[in-house]
Amino acid sequence: MKVLGIETSCDECSAAVVQDGNKILSNVIATQVPFHAPWSGVVPEIASRKHTEWIYAVTKEALEKCALSAADIDAVAVTSRPGLLGSLLVGLSFAKAFAWARNIPFIAVDHMLAHLYAVQLTSSKIEYPFLGLLVSGGHTIICRADDFDNITVLGTTIDDAAGEAFDKVAKHYNFGYPGGLVIDKMAQSGDSEAFRFPMPSLHKGDHRYDVSYSGLKNAVINQLDTFKKKPFSNEDIAASFQKTAIQILLRALLNAAEDTGLTTIVAGGGVAANSLLRASLAEQTHLRCIFPPLDLCGDNAAMIAGIGYQYLSRGEQSALNVTAQARVTGFKKKYP
Ligand code: KG4
Ligand code: ZN
Repeated sequence: MKVLGIETSCDECSAAVVQDGNKILSNVIATQVPFHAPWSGVVPEIASRKHTEWIYAVTKEALEKCALSAADIDAVAVTSRPGLLGSLLVGLSFAKAFAWARNIPFIAVDHMLAHLYAVQLTSSKIEYPFLGLLVSGGHTIICRADDFDNITVLGTTIDDAAGEAFDKVAKHYNFGYPGGLVIDKMAQSGDSEAFRFPMPSLHKGDHRYDVSYSGLKNAVINQLDTFKKKPFSNEDIAASFQKTAIQILLRALLNAAEDTGLTTIVAGGGVAANSLLRASLAEQTHLRCIFPPLDLCGDNAAMIAGIGYQYLSRGEQSALNVTAQARVTGFKKKYP
């Protein structure tokens, strides 16, 4: 079964064809980064306009790359939430039109569940349950996954998302955009001991698996002098911030692993590309840690087509009046 995936939730305009839920035939990702870079962040109106301009060409390229035509596609999957509303609506409307014109099944899927599914596009079969680490620009979720669509949220951020903290620090210091990637690169030549930023005091009771980034972000932006150990460079700021940001994630994750007894961690989302996170999880823990390849950590339509296949093969599909949702509500304990 060949599923066309469409992803337009934020600033990547992507279309992919995935066969039987795990074989990527094509995965075209057109990034809007240069259009948002002057503002050091995603401008929603620019994002939705660019998706409208590009979605047809991106889909056409995805089909051409695997030498298929629209008639060869068996079903369409699309991100319907969470994300920028105007951007989601572009992909959603396009996918509905494609499905209706071809008279094929249509399925609307959740972007965060798709991020967690991304590893299954390249790794051999992963057994449930496992501990999920979802880290993107808008979400930070530590969860137990019992199936591709059955996750229980154990912990989340109580303020900023992990990627958001990288982006805000980078924006403040004009390091570049997107912040996570830039800080990751700068940190390679910085001294992570130049500053000793404080960890949030969230390691007990109800907050044992939660994380917080606003304190760290404020310390890095406003209180450098308080934590400075010696003369420093921008690379030192990047390295010291990144070290603390990753330790915050690791502490919550290790608490969750200890309490649940789960020994496999599956990561997903843009921040899962972070080199220190990947290295630290491998070096500092005895857990089996599975990361998507770098090109499947960020937003892409292959993960949408892949998880779409799982619903479709269970006989599920969405009605053509399904709408977009900017946020997923009520996911403190149960998601979606
Ligand atoms: O999953 P994603 O592509 O989009 C959302 O769904 O939000 O994640 C984007 C986030 C941004 O905040 C970006 O700065 C961050 O992922 N990011 C990284 C790295 N690459 C991207 N954060 C840390 N290290 C990286 N290497
Ligand atoms: Zn994402």
